[in-house]
Amino acid sequence: MKDKLLIIGASGHGKVVADIALKMNRWKVISFLDDNKNIYTSMGLDIIGTSGDIFTYVEEYEIFIGIGNNATRQRIHEMLETVGASIPVLVHPNAVIGNQVKIGNGTAVMAGAVVNCCTKIGKSCIVNTSSTIDHDNFIEDFVHISPGVHLAGTVKVCQGSWLGIGSVVSNNIAITKWSKVGAGSVVVKDISEPGVYVGVPVRRV
Ligand SMILES: CC(C)(COP(=O)(O)OP(=O)(O)OC[C@H]1O[C@@H](n2cnc3c(N)ncnc32)[C@H](O)[C@@H]1OP(=O)(O)O)[C@@H](O)C(=O)NCCC(=O)NCCS
Repeated sequence: MKDKLLIIGASGHGKVVADIALKMNRWKVISFLDDNKNIYTSMGLDIIGTSGDIFTYVEEYEIFIGIGNNATRQRIHEMLETVGASIPVLVHPNAVIGNQVKIGNGTAVMAGAVVNCCTKIGKSCIVNTSSTIDHDNFIEDFVHISPGVHLAGTVKVCQGSWLGIGSVVSNNIAITKWSKVGAGSVVVKDISEPGVYVGVPVRRV
């Protein structure tokens, strides 16, 4: 384990990620990379370069991607894997994680989130503020579960999907890869075609 953490992305999502890392109290140094060359600090932490500088820091730092876009996170995560970067899991101390939960590298679990027992969460996912993921869910890689989302038991969310703020998924539902579910929407049947789904119950738009 390295005692320095580098977060890629110093804006909204990156700042929340940094806040979790600070509260975990595990790294002596926490810094950012960001492609906006006009900013030098964020959250009181130094911005020490741009995304082009990643390779300079791979040996010395653990690296976490603080970028909300799922496809961008996937691209950078896969690049980091190919260069052997050490990618931690970040879990806010006020998240509740059940027994036999597995969480992949690069995933952030934010304040107030509850992940119930026997759920598996893949790589570089976002389990955002006060979302709940109940028992036996399977959340594949690069998924974003937005703030206040509720997933009932035995839900499967496939790679790259984005569940908008406050959306709800009923039990035993599967949502195919790279789907978007709108804010406040309710999913009561499987989503088997990738697309944008909104409303109560959802319809495709
Ligand atoms: C679903 C979403 C991605 C669609 O965005 P979009 O592709 O730009 O779609 P549009 O805004 O053009 O809306 C298309 C139609 O769907 C409707 N719609 C969009 N979002 C909706 C929602 N959440 N619930 C119900 N209807 C919705 C629009 O009113 C519009 O209907 P119309 O054609 O009858 O006028 C977006 O509205 C959304 O809900 N984003 C979630 C944001 C979020 O959760 N942020 C948290 C980040 S941490």
